[in-house]
Amino acid sequence: MNNLLMEVENEIAVVTINRPKSLNALNSETLAELNQCFCEIETRKDIKVVILTGSGEKSFVAGADISEMVNATAAEGRTMGLLAYNAFGKLENMPQVTIAAVNGFALGGGCEISMACDIRIASENAKFGQPEVGLGTLPGFGGTQRLPRLVGKGRAKELIFTCDMIDAQEAYRIGLANKVVPLAELIDYCKKMATKIISKGSYAISLAKSAINTGLDVDLSSGLKLEADLFGLSFATADKKEGMSAFLEKRQAKLTDF
Ligand code: CAA
Repeated sequence: MNNLLMEVENEIAVVTINRPKSLNALNSETLAELNQCFCEIETRKDIKVVILTGSGEKSFVAGADISEMVNATAAEGRTMGLLAYNAFGKLENMPQVTIAAVNGFALGGGCEISMACDIRIASENAKFGQPEVGLGTLPGFGGTQRLPRLVGKGRAKELIFTCDMIDAQEAYRIGLANKVVPLAELIDYCKKMATKIISKGSYAISLAKSAINTGLDVDLSSGLKLEADLFGLSFATADKKEGMSAFLEKRQAKLTDF
């Protein structure tokens, strides 16, 4: 991989987008590598949480690569959008929990890839925004769909139509960031959260994730029905037997299904 780094330790994968000279902007090659990386991760049982971040102290991802897009045709633009559609879809729906460690600018495609993660932890210097309409285009890697689902239609339209960059505290206030921490503590904070998540039932978490993701795309009754089905499915696992027995026997549960 030319543009990504991945380290795996204690069932946590840290994936770093590594194009610091362009503030980790996403070109087609990086999007293809992200897709390949997420395809690999979703099959790996030794990875339970993925932390996605950008290299350096200034930027998470400053958007899609403008130098690649400037002369691209409509067909090439669509191909790029579909590359992101596939890669971000994999990221959004993989059985592992995904945490975006937003260490600076999360603009355009950067804000969009963070929104395909389950949880966003922002450093104090993080800045979020969707500047595309100022470039004569519109958010193309999920911004028009995932932003309103996260912060509501009115706030999403304001952010997209004004191109305003918001700081980490404002992102937290509107529900775009789950938490704001000092930059120096960002990765450690995410790893601590990952460790807590890994101590719970990983298979049950993957079912809950699936229920939440699918449930938000269907009507309430279908979502509730899906939840009942997955709740039932969890009763077939060793973890459910162990987790509930451990509670009744007043001991720590050892949950291992994934
Ligand atoms: N694409 C390509 N290169 C980029 C880039 C991007 N999105 N963002 C930054 N860079 C490059 C700059 O061109 C510059 O390169 P050079 O050193 O070769 O000149 C380098 O990264 C450093 O950037 P700046 O000198 O501009 O750094 P700054 O601190 O002055 O400003 C910034 C930082 C505010 C993030 C500014 O770089 C910026 O506004 N970047 C563009 C942000 C943007 O518009 N993103 C949306 C892209 S469109 C998109 O993402 C579409 C979509 O929905 C998929």
